[in-house]
Amino acid sequence: MCGIVGYIGPKRACDVLIEGLKRLEYRGYDSAGVCVYHAGRLHIAKSPGRISELEKKIAEDPAIQCGTVGIGHTRWATHGEPNEANAHPHCDLSGRIALVHNGIIENYAPLKRFLSDHGHVFRSETDTEVLAQLIGRFCQDGAETLEDAVRAALSEVGGTYGIAVMSASEPDKLVVARKGSPLIVGVGSGEYIVASDASAILEHTTNVVYLNDNEMAVVTRDSLRTMTLDNVPVSKEVEQIEWSLEQIAKGGHEHFMLKEIFEQPEVVKMCMRGRVDLRDMRIQLGGLESVTGALLRTKRLILTACGTAWHAALVGDYLFEDLARIPTEVQYASEFRYRNPIVEDDTTVIAISQSGETADTLAALREAKEKGALALGIVNVVGSTIARETDAGVYLHAGPEIGVASTKAFTCQLVVETMVALLLGRKRLLSQPVMEQYLRELAAIPDKMQRVLDKAEEIRKIAEDYVDRDNWLFLGRGYNYPIALEGALKLKEISYIHAEGLPAAEMKHGPIALIHEGMPAVFVTPQGPTYDKILGNIEEVRARRGKIIAVASEGDEGIRSCCDRVITVPDCPVALQPMLTVIPLQLLAYYAAVARGCNVDKPRNLAKSVTVE
Ligand code: G6P
Repeated sequence: MCGIVGYIGPKRACDVLIEGLKRLEYRGYDSAGVCVYHAGRLHIAKSPGRISELEKKIAEDPAIQCGTVGIGHTRWATHGEPNEANAHPHCDLSGRIALVHNGIIENYAPLKRFLSDHGHVFRSETDTEVLAQLIGRFCQDGAETLEDAVRAALSEVGGTYGIAVMSASEPDKLVVARKGSPLIVGVGSGEYIVASDASAILEHTTNVVYLNDNEMAVVTRDSLRTMTLDNVPVSKEVEQIEWSLEQIAKGGHEHFMLKEIFEQPEVVKMCMRGRVDLRDMRIQLGGLESVTGALLRTKRLILTACGTAWHAALVGDYLFEDLARIPTEVQYASEFRYRNPIVEDDTTVIAISQSGETADTLAALREAKEKGALALGIVNVVGSTIARETDAGVYLHAGPEIGVASTKAFTCQLVVETMVALLLGRKRLLSQPVMEQYLRELAAIPDKMQRVLDKAEEIRKIAEDYVDRDNWLFLGRGYNYPIALEGALKLKEISYIHAEGLPAAEMKHGPIALIHEGMPAVFVTPQGPTYDKILGNIEEVRARRGKIIAVASEGDEGIRSCCDRVITVPDCPVALQPMLTVIPLQLLAYYAAVARGCNVDKPRNLAKSVTVE
């Protein structure tokens, strides 16, 4: 996700900024930029792509190389493509104020309209530029200091932010503020380094001041003042960072995959932010507004994807048929284009992809468009090829996923599918009370996810107890059948244990022959319409002395008598269960892989983004 660095002190600012931005690279980014003050003006260099591209630009700009105060940013695109215009820093109309921003300004559209009506011209598609111009406007309207203008502007914006702001009119000052997006001030000797992440500071100092939400700081060459956004002074302790750089990059976790598993409550919240509207009790998906009419006329939905995203599509099949009553089918992207698919009028194809670059998914999308389908995307990486080639779509906003085995992108794919299904369902058949119940339940999912994550230790023990078994089965029904497939895939991918996922009732048609004494069978069996049926399947495995690990509903005491191990998940509507039931399986695979000494984040033979057929 985006990263912020700022510097004020005796050194060349550009060196500290570039070094800090490189430290933030692990978070993922698609463009970068810096702003440095020198000789009465702000000097900006920005570039899409790697930081090395930005360095080339700085090398050609002597003014940027001179200054000793500046701000820098790595951007992970959310509003607008990853190009130079959209890269941060962004300026106000005068070019004398510059800003870098992490987070999302939710009400940027009405603010932008207001500013446009008052003569502001925008050079980017970003929400951030709106904030920069708003700060400039408050300066122009008589704010006495930069911090006054920042404070006034922030009182107008909704959403989340970590920001660092500088002004050519008050050059020995950085103003930073935080609401929902971290910011830290490193206190060096005779210098300050501000950053969104301690890894950009550690090189210089281990003394830091942490800002809390709704706080801001004014940093000058020899002082640091902290206050609330309402300008009430706050006194802060200088604290010591005790983590190593590597630990910090992984948020204190041993692997990126574990960090990403644990991030799920947070990213799912980000994915729903501004979209699950509990005030007006509706779903708002700006990315689909232009095609809502066409979507409502859709007679058939085809979901296409690869790997984990294909499992998300299988859950989508249930969601779209169940909640929106639209006939839906799921196609492996690699098969779709070679089968001469039937795409009739009023067919919509949705490509689902974390990276937005998977070659097979892209080819399937192009085939669908060629045949006249409305082509939509559910994609994580903004500005990726699939995102650009679709007619419309919904971004996941899951942040960069670095572990090769997809986890948080998967749960966000489920959330987006649910939101789309509810949006269409409400317009077709769902009553408002039913809709409201789903919206409330969706909003409760992040906390419930956390309750599952709190069981990590218990799950680690189960993984360690069975890690010596070479063959596993994963079984589920209904909405949890794709989760059984995903559980098996996760285990295969990172621990290299052979595993098969099945709809539970299919077991008796063949795979039951595999079951032998001690073989683990993981049943994904929370309460629901097929619960009783699956108990029968459990008995079939028990009779053959297999070991039963169940993912069951909290409070289901009965199931313990027929299972060797039980991991419980909180109750929720059946359609939302996959968002919770997948988490124990992600953790089971993770801990099994760690116990086997595997390279969890970079499993053998696998690539994060498969751009070849
Ligand atoms: C690769 C990855 C999988 C991923 C699949 C689809 O095979 O190893 O984890 O699910 O590609 O990737 P996408 O970026 O399209 O979701």
